[in-house]
Amino acid sequence: MNIVNIIEKKKGGNALTKDEISFAINGFLDKTILDSQMSSLLMAICFKGMNDEETYYLTDVMINSGSVIDLSKIDGITVDKHSTGGVGDKISLILLPIVASCGIKVPKMSGRSLGHTGGTIDKLESIPGFRTSMSIDYFIEQINEIGMGIISQTLNMVPADKRIYALRSITGTTDSLPLIASSIMSKKIASGAKNIVIDVKVGKGALVKDLDEARELSNIMIEIGKKFDRKVVCLLTNMDYPLGRSIGNILEVVEAMQVLDGSGTEDLKSISLELATLMISTGKGVSREEAYLEAKEALESGRALEKFKEFVSYQGGNLNYIELSTNIKSFNSKFSGYITNIDARKLADFIVDIRSKEKIDYKTGIVLNKKLGDFVEVGEKLLDVYINSDAENNNIEITNYDEILENCFEISEKKNKAEVKLIYEVVE
Ligand code: URA
Repeated sequence: MNIVNIIEKKKGGNALTKDEISFAINGFLDKTILDSQMSSLLMAICFKGMNDEETYYLTDVMINSGSVIDLSKIDGITVDKHSTGGVGDKISLILLPIVASCGIKVPKMSGRSLGHTGGTIDKLESIPGFRTSMSIDYFIEQINEIGMGIISQTLNMVPADKRIYALRSITGTTDSLPLIASSIMSKKIASGAKNIVIDVKVGKGALVKDLDEARELSNIMIEIGKKFDRKVVCLLTNMDYPLGRSIGNILEVVEAMQVLDGSGTEDLKSISLELATLMISTGKGVSREEAYLEAKEALESGRALEKFKEFVSYQGGNLNYIELSTNIKSFNSKFSGYITNIDARKLADFIVDIRSKEKIDYKTGIVLNKKLGDFVEVGEKLLDVYINSDAENNNIEITNYDEILENCFEISEKKNKAEVKLIYEVVE
């Protein structure tokens, strides 16, 4: 078998066999296939797609590239959650403690940032001392004791996804449905949960741009789930605008805690509660109404916040040592009016441009002072930019700073007529 033939076969729009997919993935892992060749194959997949059978084979090969967690040692019901990726998406940090404090066990394997979208592991590692890597036995013990845990892919789990994910992030090959579906489902199946709830983000700041694509992606993941005897439920949610007020690792951790203590934004609260409802109803087999009330009580009573603190400290993190950058530049409005658009993708690209390229930058980000629909006066603050005071680019001069940020906002005399829909639909 020859990788060039496989690339050319996909480039011509033909379906690959399981042996060909296995040859490409395993060759990439043992380095007999070069990064450039894998990038080329990924790009061909982006253009020509994969049918359901190929996507299933790809998922299977990826799962078998590493070890798989046996969750049978966990007492109780396990439900896992994943997001297809968004801007300012810190939902997992809010949702998991809600669900765990309602008695569901949540063992979660998360990823790092992918392209312009953020990653839960980077956010958690911005908490001083936080460990995202541990032995499987320790992880299972943690889940049994406190009901939740989040680990990275360092336990030789789905190493194929880990390497392909990193390559996709730098080769413009993030937004292919079969690549997203196989990446997510391989991690979810390897980490063992029988029930999986997926937040499929749709819109300008997401990898999936419209509702039809989101439905297609959901159906691909549901079908893969069936083949592995897993129940998959997808919630389609709006990602045209940034979620909450913060974008950037440590800033998002701080904001997640604000939602947990009752002072966060409504969008984060309602998406978290909706996903919690699905996780609890799927796990416990109760009605959605009942599950919603349980989730709301866990959030509003402060139990979820306590669970979050317990989880952080169990994984070695110390919330008292969180440090934000002190190098802050404010950006003020040149116009007065209603904010009719905030472009999530442009803001995310701005942050990618100004953050450290040397290592993961925990401190760079922005905090919005105004949200969609708010009124702003001339000279009033629209947002603060946090520039990493520790990074090598600490003194960076952001060229066209004002111009770039101005392009992220639309300000009009009149408010948008239609209410923005935050949650579209459930696909199951
Ligand atoms: N999350 C993943 O784990 N993989 C993707 O490809 C997209 C989002």
